[in-house]
Amino acid sequence: MNKNIFISQKIPASAENILKQAGFSVKTNKEDRMLSREELLTGLKKADAAICLLSDKIDAAMLAELPRCKVIANYAVGFNNIDIETAKSKGIIITNTPDVLTDATADLTLALILAAARHIVAGDAFMRGGQFKGWKPFLFLGKQLSTSYVGIVGAGRIGVAVAERVHAFGAKLLYFSNNPNKKMEKRFGAKRVTLNELLENSDIVSLHAPLTPNSRHLLNKNNLTFLKNDAILINTARGELVDEPALIKLLKKRKSMVAGFDVYYGEPNINPELLTLPNVVLSPHTGSATRTAREQMAEIAAINIVNVLNGGKPLTPVW
Ligand code: GLV
Ligand code: GLV
Repeated sequence: MNKNIFISQKIPASAENILKQAGFSVKTNKEDRMLSREELLTGLKKADAAICLLSDKIDAAMLAELPRCKVIANYAVGFNNIDIETAKSKGIIITNTPDVLTDATADLTLALILAAARHIVAGDAFMRGGQFKGWKPFLFLGKQLSTSYVGIVGAGRIGVAVAERVHAFGAKLLYFSNNPNKKMEKRFGAKRVTLNELLENSDIVSLHAPLTPNSRHLLNKNNLTFLKNDAILINTARGELVDEPALIKLLKKRKSMVAGFDVYYGEPNINPELLTLPNVVLSPHTGSATRTAREQMAEIAAINIVNVLNGGKPLTPVW
């Protein structure tokens, strides 16, 4: 019988091509927007497999309504949008797209670090606002990486790729991770410390941990205050790693702190207060948004489905 694949939003064409070449029927949502829960469920119900986005919330109740679905390929490395335990209990394989987006996400992290360290966004507004009156000794002074301690929270692929980049800029490194990471230590001279030590001693802190029940509010109103007065905090992982209202309060108090965010608490909603702060740099969850990464993510997602539906093993299973 012909197998049906549902794709919840248009992604690079290689995904459809791979799936069609394998003999599957593909139905892609053509609307350029997130599907409602109902629309998503309708699409998934008829599918033997699906490619979903990180914004598609696939919880236990939804999984319970998918008797024929064998595999869901999440078009992301993070998979906190899916109830993995329930998927497991129902035998629905979940896959993600690791590795291929590591460089893209690490690059964007560096872009935010440098934008925050050198006040690029505030400087741009200053120029456009006609405030530039010539070179000045104290105009927009910032930090340089070669005299900074960078603290990396999470030593997975992306954390290591960020370490590699800031190490090349001459930064000294601290990292926090449940397990020691040899590459971090041997190649980049990073020192493993407790989270509190990292927050106290880093000039720049960058978050690269997956969102799990344990990592939710990893940074909270208590430990956020350990940050240096003029620290830079970068989050390209998941908004919920940080107690956002507590951070906003701190950013209001500490005018010389800067935060760089690519991800937000309760996306797609944005805390309106965040948009009023001058000391934040915001990007629209574009960590993996390079043509190369998105293309390769599409290929991996499709190959995962082909492999599973043909009785083989997925390339990049979450479980
Ligand atoms: C992006 O946030 C991803 O998890 O791929
Ligand atoms: C994410 O941090 C990864 O390990 O790819």
